[in-house]
Amino acid sequence: MSDYDLVLKNGLVVMGEAVVAADVGVMGGKIAGIAHHLHGTEEIDCQGHIVTPGAVDVHVHLQYPIGPLTTGDDFFTGTRAAALGGTTTIIDFVEARPQQPLLDALHERHMLAAERAVIDYGFHMTITPTDIPKLDQVPAIVAAGCPSFKHYMAYSFRLHDGELLQSFQAIRRAGGLPIVHAENWDVIQALVRQNLAAGRTEPRWHPRSRPALMEGEAAGRVINLAALAETPVYIFHVSCQAVVERIAAARAQGQPVYGETCPQYLLLDDSLFEQPGVAGALPICSPPLRPRSEQAHLWAALARGDLQVISTDHCPFWLADKAAALEDFSRIPGGVPSIESRFALAYTFGVGAGRLSLSQWVARCCTTPAQLMGLTHKGQIAVGYDADLVVFDPQWPVTLSTETLHENVDWTLYAGRQLTGWPRHTLSRGRWLVRDGAFVGRPGQGQFVCRHF
Ligand code: URP
Ligand code: ZN
Ligand code: ZN
Repeated sequence: MSDYDLVLKNGLVVMGEAVVAADVGVMGGKIAGIAHHLHGTEEIDCQGHIVTPGAVDVHVHLQYPIGPLTTGDDFFTGTRAAALGGTTTIIDFVEARPQQPLLDALHERHMLAAERAVIDYGFHMTITPTDIPKLDQVPAIVAAGCPSFKHYMAYSFRLHDGELLQSFQAIRRAGGLPIVHAENWDVIQALVRQNLAAGRTEPRWHPRSRPALMEGEAAGRVINLAALAETPVYIFHVSCQAVVERIAAARAQGQPVYGETCPQYLLLDDSLFEQPGVAGALPICSPPLRPRSEQAHLWAALARGDLQVISTDHCPFWLADKAAALEDFSRIPGGVPSIESRFALAYTFGVGAGRLSLSQWVARCCTTPAQLMGLTHKGQIAVGYDADLVVFDPQWPVTLSTETLHENVDWTLYAGRQLTGWPRHTLSRGRWLVRDGAFVGRPGQGQFVCRHF
């Protein structure tokens, strides 16, 4: 007799610290049993494979408009690529126009995602200077299932310290979580001006205009502002030890400060900006790639738990868009893609290289991002959780290239990288998204996830 709709049989199941050989039974879209000798209407042999929760990417920019440009991946292509790489939930962003109520902006973004997404999704609400008069709308956004709020300390829509404080206070009162892109915009602008005035226009001047020292300073300021507002805070895309040190020091004092890093900071370095032509422009992202020596600090921080999350900051502008601004590094659109490869990159270069255990890999890519962002039924293999599951083949050799990846962009910084390990099957709420490496989902299958703390 079949007790389950589906059973993943005999895999190595990662459940927090425990990694056990077991069957995972799925019923009605939920994980319903973890034991031996389970039987289901459909049974999949997972012998030799690792069964993990679906990975959770809490930092992606799909259909992301910057001025006249939009990122290449929309909610279909981006979430399909994510699913092929084992990611079953993403969190994207909402940005309101100056006079637009925050709820209206959220509604518009819902409309874009609902018909196209193949995996589940949520949104961070962005707070820009024109949203400061709208802070009384924060509780309504939290109530609508979006309890995390993005703040920029860089770009034209950056917030000043007083605005950050006001926003943090409003979010704390509403029970939400502030998130920050931490850089020192005044210093960046001064350095950019100096470099351009001296004719230093090439991409190699991008990292030289955004020093790690000042990323550390900005993160320190954010942490102090969060302490003043008595709120937890989450710091996006940590690129360097100068930020790790601040986060670790605050956490050692008991302050609830969290940080993520991304594959580009763990695996790539600032020598890429030295390449001639558009090759030097493609890696432009902010904060910039840092010297190779920073990578060991980031891996160690992930292993210790001073950084809690690996996300992507997937932000794929086309090669032509990067090339069009080559004469001035400060005008090159920033952002790099990795929505498809993150989970497997973290496996090969984390677990495979002995930097992370299997449990740490799952914690950083699945469980902790779900917990920190209020995804209460995601990110764990436990009875009652959504049956978002990955059957990961640890022996599968994959060479990354734009031809084999499904991200809708004509370049990748990982071309030629050889991975050992890739998701063979991906399930979302018990439904097949990827079977034997082939996408079998459909647009609109993804659901908005109402998040709460
Ligand atoms: O350069 C980057 N990271 N672009 C994406 C937007 C952001 O700052 O997260
Ligand atoms: Zn950012
Ligand atoms: Zn981002």
